[in-house]
Amino acid sequence: MNPTQELITNLADQYGRNREQLLPILQGVVEKEKFLSDYSMIEIARELDIPAAEVYGTATFYSFLEYKQMGTYIIRVCKTITCSMKGKNQILLTIKDMLKIGVGETTPDRKFSLLETNCLGWCHKAPAMLINDEIFTELTPEKVRGILTEYLKK
Ligand code: FES
Repeated sequence: MNPTQELITNLADQYGRNREQLLPILQGVVEKEKFLSDYSMIEIARELDIPAAEVYGTATFYSFLEYKQMGTYIIRVCKTITCSMKGKNQILLTIKDMLKIGVGETTPDRKFSLLETNCLGWCHKAPAMLINDEIFTELTPEKVRGILTEYLKK
């Protein structure tokens, strides 16, 4: 068990493993590690047996993540196996093409950041992505263009 896993297991032992305990566990990780990594969130999801999207959503809502360099809308495209096999690359290409940014980059107006992420727990409706805490599933390039067009208007 690595230190992060150990920390999360200890916090879950302390607070319990139902989803109501997500917030104190997130706070515990941030307090100890000063940062909430994608890895920590996946581990918390595993430990509590809830979708990783829920952990991301809560973490985003409570601004636990290091968002200083990030845009208003953070797009996280799932890169895990099911989404990869179901056309994640096409999704990523569509986003890159529309926003003119690569993975890890932010648009000059700081409106959008693009990231890849691990499994969001929506494999049955792959490919999937999050924009902040909103999940979008069964994506196609056309669907992504529609979604981004709406966000561009915001
Ligand atoms: Fe993409 Fe699970 S593999 S949501």
